[in-house]
Amino acid sequence: MWNGGSITTAATFPSPTFSDVAPRAVPARKTLGEVEGLAPLIAAKSVVRRYGSGPAVCTALDGISLAIQSGQFIALTGPSGSGKSTLLNVLGGLDRTDAGEVWFEDRELSTLSDAEISNIRLHRIGFVFQDGHLVPVLSVAENIELPLLFRQDIARTERNQRVAQAMRDVGLWDKRHRRPDELSGGERQRASLARALGGRPSVVLADEPTANLDQHTGAAVIRLMRALCARYGSAVVCATHDGQLTSCADQVVRLSDGRMMPS
Ligand SMILES: Nc1ncnc2c1ncn2[C@@H]1O[C@H](COP(=O)(O)OP(=O)(O)OP(=O)(O)O)[C@@H](O)[C@H]1O
Ligand SMILES: [Mg+2]
Repeated sequence: MWNGGSITTAATFPSPTFSDVAPRAVPARKTLGEVEGLAPLIAAKSVVRRYGSGPAVCTALDGISLAIQSGQFIALTGPSGSGKSTLLNVLGGLDRTDAGEVWFEDRELSTLSDAEISNIRLHRIGFVFQDGHLVPVLSVAENIELPLLFRQDIARTERNQRVAQAMRDVGLWDKRHRRPDELSGGERQRASLARALGGRPSVVLADEPTANLDQHTGAAVIRLMRALCARYGSAVVCATHDGQLTSCADQVVRLSDGRMMPS
C-alpha cells in the first residue's frame, strides 16, 4: 500500500511525515499584509461573477480581492455554494468576470485573447479537480503526458523524464499502464496531481483534492501536494471542506455568499 513517502530524491528532499499537516509544523510564511509590497503572482481585485439574469441572478463572487504570492499554500473554505469553485475558475482563466480584474503577474486577463489565456494556463497553471478529470481511455502515464504534448518548449526526452518523475513522485510508477477506472479514488487524485505538476506550474489550483478520500489517504495527498509544490516552488490554492488541509495552509481564505469573511 502506498504510504505517501515514495518521493525519490529523499537524500535532498526528505519524505514528508504526518507532522507536516499539523498546525505547529507549518513553516512561518508571510501573510498577505506582510507581502503587500511584493508583486503577487495572481491578484483578484474586486471580482464579481454572476450567473443568470433578472430576478434569478446568482452572485457567485461579490467583490473578491485576493493576492497570491509564489510559494504560498492557500486554503479556500466556506459552505457549499459560497463561491470556492467559481473563484478557482476565475483565477485560472477558466471563467470570466462580470466586474473587477484578475491579474496574472503583469497581465490583466480580460485584456487577453482566449489563445493568450490558454497559453498562460498551459505553461503556468496546474489544475487538480475533485474527480481527477482524467481521460478514461488513456493510461496514467498518457494522462500525465497529455498536457506536455502541447508544450513546444519541452522536447521529447525532457517530457519522458518529467512523466517518469511525476509518476514516481506520487507513487504510481507501478500503475503507470492502468486506466483511471482501474485506480482507487486516492490514486486518481495522485495521478491528477502528477499531471498538474508535470508542467512545473507557477500555481496549482485544486478543487477539493481530498474530497471522497478517507482521512489517512486525504492526509497523504495533502502532504504530497504540499511537499511537491514546495519542491517545484508552486503556489497552491485549494478549495476545500477538509479541516486537515486548512490546518496546514499558510493562509485560510473563508468565503460566504461570494464574499470574503474576515479571518
Ligand atoms: N454554471 C452555473 N450556473 C448558475 N449558477 C451557478 C453555476 N455555477 C455555480 N453557480 C452558483 O454559484 C454559486 C457558487 O457556486 P460554487 O460552485 O462556486 O460554490 P462552491 O463554494 O464551490 O460550492 P461546493 O462546496 O458545493 O463545491 C452557487 O450558488 C451556485 O449555485
Ligand atoms: Mg465547489
